[in-house]
Amino acid sequence: MATLSLNANLSNPINTALFLYILYSVHKIVFPSVNLPPKPLPTEFKSGYTWMPKSHPPTVLFKTFTPQTLAKYDGTEKAPGARILLAINGTVFDVTAGRNFYGPDGMYGNFAGRDASRGMARQSFDLDVLTPIDQPLDKLTDLKSDELDNMKAWYDHFSNKYIICGKLVENDDPTASAD
Ligand SMILES: *[C@@H]1O[C@H](CO)[C@@H](O)[C@H](O)[C@H]1NC(C)=O
Repeated sequence: MATLSLNANLSNPINTALFLYILYSVHKIVFPSVNLPPKPLPTEFKSGYTWMPKSHPPTVLFKTFTPQTLAKYDGTEKAPGARILLAINGTVFDVTAGRNFYGPDGMYGNFAGRDASRGMARQSFDLDVLTPIDQPLDKLTDLKSDELDNMKAWYDHFSNKYIICGKLVENDDPTASAD
């Protein structure tokens, strides 16, 4: 007659596994795991979100500038984050990202805060291509077609590279944004 001792049973690997499984099941019945309440959902960003950028680019509002309100965006303002704007053919671009070119020490620094249309058309950085800021807008009607092409090329370049942030109107235009 075959009487199997417990020892004999446990020497069989399958029986050992069954025995351990039974122990585990009994343990679970005797000590059921406590049903913990769910963790509260996070309501704010905390550390650990590595995909978050350090800072977001400032929101750009579309404004209607005049030569006089545009002039202060020439990059000479000492406050940190001073923006540099310039206009081409009535469109105002934010060229702050190109401070090395359009800032006070840049090779195009004369255009900062100004209507740069004529300078870009004539490929000139001289001050005489700039209209004084208290004068009516430069109508550009005397420009030759190759000069207009130059201006258009600059306009397209700026459109691809910089943010359009407004348009340029006459100093006395009632639609101009409040300063
Ligand atoms: C300048 O802007 C006017 C519209 O305001 C447009 O008709 C003209 O084609 C533009 N000139 C160039 C050279 O892009």
